Amino acid sequence: MNALIELKNITKTFDDQQILKGINLKIYENEFLTLLGPSGCGKTTTLRIIAGFDESDGGELLFDGIEISKQPPYKREVNTVFQKYALFPHLNVFDNIAFGLNIKKTEKSVVKQEVEKMLKLVGLSGFEKRDVTSLSGGQQQRVAIARALINKPKVLLLDEPLGALDAKLRKEMQFELKKIQKEVGITFIYVTHDQEEALSMSDTVVVMNDGYIQQIGTPTDVYNEPENRFVAQFIGESNIIEGTMIRDCLVAFDDFEFECVDKGFKENEEIEVVLRPEDIDIVAADKAKLTGTVTSIVFKGVHYEIMVQSKYRQYMIHTTDYHEVGLEVGLAFGPEDIHVMWKMV
Ligand SMILES: Nc1ncnc2c1ncn2[C@@H]1O[C@H](COP(=O)(O)OP(=O)(O)OP(=O)(O)O)[C@@H](O)[C@H]1O
Ligand SMILES: [Mg+2]
Repeated sequence: MNALIELKNITKTFDDQQILKGINLKIYENEFLTLLGPSGCGKTTTLRIIAGFDESDGGELLFDGIEISKQPPYKREVNTVFQKYALFPHLNVFDNIAFGLNIKKTEKSVVKQEVEKMLKLVGLSGFEKRDVTSLSGGQQQRVAIARALINKPKVLLLDEPLGALDAKLRKEMQFELKKIQKEVGITFIYVTHDQEEALSMSDTVVVMNDGYIQQIGTPTDVYNEPENRFVAQFIGESNIIEGTMIRDCLVAFDDFEFECVDKGFKENEEIEVVLRPEDIDIVAADKAKLTGTVTSIVFKGVHYEIMVQSKYRQYMIHTTDYHEVGLEVGLAFGPEDIHVMWKMV
C-alpha cells in the first residue's frame, strides 16, 4: 500500500534549537493517526509542516508521492481544525460552514445542499441560523469540523480539537469524531497529549518525545508492547524494572529468572521489563517467587491500587480484591505479562 503522506527525515530548528530531529512517518488513506506526546515535543510543529504553515529545514514531505514542501497551504489537499475554534463571529452557523464553498463561488443551491449534509454529519441540523457565539464549546467545535470537511480535503488535521472541552463532553466528542471519520472515509491526523484519547480513537498512535518518534503502532501495540521506558511510562501506569535477558524467552530481575515470550535480544543483554499493574496477581506468599508487604491500598472506583514493597522496589498492582496493609503477599504473573524493552541510553 502506498502512503498518502510521507515524512522523510524531517528536521526543524527554531532559534538555534532543534525541535524536530528527523521525523520518519507514513500516513495512509482512511487512517486515523494520532501524534501523542508531552507538551513541547513537536506535535504541532509536525502538523504545521504537513499543513504548510511552516517549512521544514531538511528532509522530504511527500503527498501522493510528490514533494510538496514548497507548496503553499491553500494548494494542499488538507484542512486544519485547531483547539481554538477560530470561527467567524460575525457569521451565523450556515455561513461559517459555507465559507469555503462561497469563496470558490459555488452555486447557491449546491452550497445549501452541502451545508445541510455537513450539519447532519456533525449533528447540528436546525442550527443554521444560530449565531456561532451563542453555541456551546462542543457545538462550536462541530461547526469548525463541518467548515473544514465541506472543502472535501483528503486529510483533516486536528490539533487538540477537544482540549477546551470538559471531560464529559470530551468523551462524547471523541466518539463523534471517530464516527465522522468513518463516515467521510478520509485520513485524520490528530494531535493530543492525552494518552487515553489517543488509545480510544486511533488506528495508529505515534508516540513522540523531544523531537523524536519513540514508537509507531496500533493502540494495543503501544500499550502492550512499549518499545522503551518512555513509551511505557507515558502510556498507562507501569512497573519498570531493570533486568537481564538470559536468552530468548528467559529474563532475570529482582534475583529471579522468569519465563517470558520475548525474543531477539542478545544473551545477557541489559534490558528493561514492564509489568502493567493490572497484569500482576496478588497470591499467597508461598505461591510466588516475588514477595513483599502491602504498604498502601487506595480504592480507585473500579479497582484497588495496591503498593507492595519487595526487596528491591515498590510494585503497583491493580486488582478488585482487597488486601490489608501490612500483609505479606506473593506477586504472580505469567510469561505473556512480562514485556521486555530495549534499554534507553
Ligand atoms: N514559531 C516558533 N518559534 C520559536 N519556537 C517555537 C515556535 N513554534 C514552536 N516552537 C518551540 O518548539 C517546541 C515544540 O513546539 P510544538 O508547538 O510543536 O509542541 P507541541 O508538542 O505541540 O506541544 P503542546 O502539547 O504544548 O501543544 C517548543 O519548545 C516550542 O516553544
Ligand atoms: Mg501543540
